[in-house]
Amino acid sequence: MVTDTAVPRPRSSLPGPQGLPLLGAKMHLLQLYLHPFVRLRELYTTYGDIVVLTRNNPMLVFAFGPQHNFSLLSNPDLFYASSEKSFEKVPRGTAFTHILRNNLQHLDGEPHQRQRHLMMPAFHERQIVNYHRDIVEQTQSLLDSWGIGRELDLAREMQRLTQNVVDKTLFGLADDEKVARLRAQIHKLTKVMALGAGLPIDFPGLPYRQALQLAQKFATEMRELIEQKRGQAEATDMLTVLSQSHDEVGEKLTDDQVIGQVFAFYTTAYQTIANALTWTNFLLMQHPHILANLLAELDEKLHGAPPTSAQLSQLPLLEGVIKEGLRLFPPAIIGKRIAMSTCELGGYELAAGTTIVYSEFLTHRLPELYTEPNRFRPERWLTLEPSPYEYLPFSAGQHRCIAAPFAMQELKIVLAIMLQRYRLALRPNLKLSVDFTMRAKPGMPVRIFAQDRQFKRTPVRGPILDMLEGI
Ligand code: HEM
Repeated sequence: MVTDTAVPRPRSSLPGPQGLPLLGAKMHLLQLYLHPFVRLRELYTTYGDIVVLTRNNPMLVFAFGPQHNFSLLSNPDLFYASSEKSFEKVPRGTAFTHILRNNLQHLDGEPHQRQRHLMMPAFHERQIVNYHRDIVEQTQSLLDSWGIGRELDLAREMQRLTQNVVDKTLFGLADDEKVARLRAQIHKLTKVMALGAGLPIDFPGLPYRQALQLAQKFATEMRELIEQKRGQAEATDMLTVLSQSHDEVGEKLTDDQVIGQVFAFYTTAYQTIANALTWTNFLLMQHPHILANLLAELDEKLHGAPPTSAQLSQLPLLEGVIKEGLRLFPPAIIGKRIAMSTCELGGYELAAGTTIVYSEFLTHRLPELYTEPNRFRPERWLTLEPSPYEYLPFSAGQHRCIAAPFAMQELKIVLAIMLQRYRLALRPNLKLSVDFTMRAKPGMPVRIFAQDRQFKRTPVRGPILDMLEGI
């Protein structure tokens, strides 16, 4: 807990690996980046649930397990998601700064609450039903392009699909050229964004100059679009909803806020869902009996058709499979918070400015929360009801993923359509691993067959075997 009657221990006594001569803590950070899953587990088993990795200012502390997740995520006034320090060097007043700052994950306190409240209508249960048709159409169109007998990289295909879904549900435009242009602008800006914010020097050839120009171009195009959307009473895409949203006293999102939030959606929306689809498919390919049971459920309820919105809540095994996939391979393996004032965590005193990392991945693999934690057991979700701090693929608290219901809907629709139509077979003997961003390395090469129910497991090699039991 954050507060305790006992006197907190000084931060100098926090357990953790010693910095190395010359390199300091850099080597530990590099190891974490290169071998995140092994290293997170090692830190926890060697040092316990509170571990310090960087002792000099600002301190970097890891806090593992549901109790610390609760402390960090349920105290938004004490633990911020973002720090003003990250942006303080970037001059205000440009389209670039507006995009950088108007991102829910970069906002805290009252500004975060206000913008989030105005964005909620885009993800309300009544609204996400409107995205259903787009998701079905985009999935069918991608699957039509797959030929029986072909080998393709499932990870790339899932990325193509989720990008197309974001394009449609977010912009709702029939003009494909315009969508492609907006998409290209977002990708280019994403590439130079961090460098530009880190070195905000407006000089030809430097990333900051490029970021300023790209942001300006994107903002100009988006302003025109927002103007159009404000006049379209019937449209149901996310941009229309955001452009027209207002609260009880008539307050609206400004154009700059809509533009920043759209940019943030775009950059977080598709890769997370693509990774979840890739790994869930992998787990199913490795567990033929579960796949057979899932297909029996889909056959019985859907008879080969895509699920309707009403049917999405009537497929318990599909739901269990997706939840279990997100437990074992959460698209965000860690998250962070920053202490806004001196505080106590796990009996230690922490200084204001300390960065504290929590881990969805590690929490989901704790044996005291999940029996056989490294085993794919979707049926556990028929009875299991963990707290929001024990199961948190979408995080918890005020910054919990605003789009979680949308993401769950997309995962269910895509899987239900795909599995009924095709059987996928993993390339035999593949050496498979997963990186810090949860991407499959070297991708997920699969061969496509018509759904003939001839399921069999294909052996895999490599680091993936250390992450799972029973494959
Ligand atoms: C399987 C898919 C997804 C996963 C696992 C996921 C995961 C997450 C996580 C862990 C956070 C919380 C970060 C924190 O607490 O600091 C988050 C926040 C967020 N996500 Fe997602 N996400 C997914 C899909 C999406 C999609 C499709 C969108 C947009 C259409 C989206 C938009 C956002 C936004 C705007 C936030 C910030 C919320 C806030 O700070 O108030 N996410 N997501």
